[in-house]
Amino acid sequence: MNFDFANIQQQIAEDKNQIASVQDLERLRLKYLAKKGIIAELYAALGSLPPEQKALVGKNANIWRQELEAFIAAKKTDLAKAAPTLGGTAIDVTLPGVALPLGHAHILTTVMEDICAIFEKLGFAVVEGPEMETEFNNFDGLNIPPEHPARDGLDTFYVEIPDPAAPGKKLLLRSQTSPMQIRVMREHQPPLAVVVPGKVYRPDAVDASHSFMFHQIEGLLVDKDVKFSDLKGLLTSFCRKFFGTDIRMRLRPHYFPFTEPSAEVDISCYLCGGKGCSVCGRKGWLEIMGCGMVHPNVFQAVGYPPDVYTGLAFGLGVERIAMLKYGIKDIRLFYDGDERFLRQF
Ligand code: DAH
Repeated sequence: MNFDFANIQQQIAEDKNQIASVQDLERLRLKYLAKKGIIAELYAALGSLPPEQKALVGKNANIWRQELEAFIAAKKTDLAKAAPTLGGTAIDVTLPGVALPLGHAHILTTVMEDICAIFEKLGFAVVEGPEMETEFNNFDGLNIPPEHPARDGLDTFYVEIPDPAAPGKKLLLRSQTSPMQIRVMREHQPPLAVVVPGKVYRPDAVDASHSFMFHQIEGLLVDKDVKFSDLKGLLTSFCRKFFGTDIRMRLRPHYFPFTEPSAEVDISCYLCGGKGCSVCGRKGWLEIMGCGMVHPNVFQAVGYPPDVYTGLAFGLGVERIAMLKYGIKDIRLFYDGDERFLRQF
């Protein structure tokens, strides 16, 4: 039998070069040093060899075995040193990872997005405004002068920052999203149609249905010849899309300083369908928003000629709508951050 020593030698060298992991190292050991490995084969062949070859093959086999054993031991230490560790303990990066639970949007965000999406389809643009406002935009421009009783319920958190545009006046946390009416009209000429989602602040004591901070969506559409019937049609479309086609809507006369005429919007109770139950307080109707035709004084405040343009406006409380739609009894649940509540939506 003839042994190609050079070939075996070269093969060992190549195999050693390929080693990149503990697994490769084990494959190398099995190939050469295992019971049926190449070195074992050489030893097994010794008995049938002529004496002059026997010595040479035996010598080579011994050298390769020792070399390979030394190489494997040294490489094992090197690989262990290079392996990733955490606080000194080796970690196996090939183990399957721990999957992080996927989060999702907060229910209030989802409801706001759903509402805005309906109005976007009807041609409205979604715009946002600052939570810190001027007294003018929050009150005066909206036809709520300083002595007006409507300020009481809305009078809010003033900030120790002077209004750069009005000497002696301070900025405040807006108590409604309506001031964005003023900002939008000052920046754009009609025709325009916007919805404004955002946070508002009021000096209200917190209970099951009140919070010092909550979310509103304001709507404003200005053009020539906008009529009250447009307002009614628009809001009917919205209610059907958001609450379902079997819902009925009614407008109830009301007062808001920045609209004339003004109305509150009710929908038939989703629970009793209008018969009267504990959810609707036996009325059969649930109030969901305020609305009206833009007051000429508001147009005057922004420099629009009131005899040329008419407009419709509406404002809704997001928490209230979400509570009605999903049967949520306590507004504080939205803000507590309790995952058992949040995961339901
Ligand atoms: N800003 C009112 C509020 O906070 C809601 C509102 C009512 C907005 C009627 C409007 C509107 O634009 O026309 O109570």
